[in-house]
Amino acid sequence: MSSEFTAIFEGYPRQRRYALAMLMDVQSRCRYIPREALEELARYLAQDKVKVSSLYSMATFYRALSLEPKGKHVIKVCDGTACHLRGTPVLLDTLQRRLDLSPGETSKDKRWSLETVNCLGACALAPVLVIDDTYHPQVKAEKLGALLAQYENTP
Ligand code: FES
Repeated sequence: MSSEFTAIFEGYPRQRRYALAMLMDVQSRCRYIPREALEELARYLAQDKVKVSSLYSMATFYRALSLEPKGKHVIKVCDGTACHLRGTPVLLDTLQRRLDLSPGETSKDKRWSLETVNCLGACALAPVLVIDDTYHPQVKAEKLGALLAQYENTP
């Protein structure tokens, strides 16, 4: 039986060590890990004795994976030490009020997900946030409205 996930899985050998890469591909395609993907992957990797329960554990352990659908745009606010000291609390507070979201939540219209992360590896540019895959350095709270507007108008 084939599904939308079959082509992803068949791009990898049927070995446990590729399970995370396959789940990352599913996450990238669907913006979350559907239950059916876990079940199909367990069948695909059955000869390597991979169970749905271990894939479920993997999906809950790695922050890059989500069992809930994420928003069209994912905002990751760095709360590492450098960013925290240079303004993350104000940025986060502004974003929470503006989007009516807490970190870890997705808006009801599935437009936004808000997350915090520990150090994005760009401390010299603190405070940093990433929207989708784009880094935004030295962000000021008063510029957040204009920044979000760039994404609000995308289809
Ligand atoms: S602490 Fe934010 S990028 Fe390192």
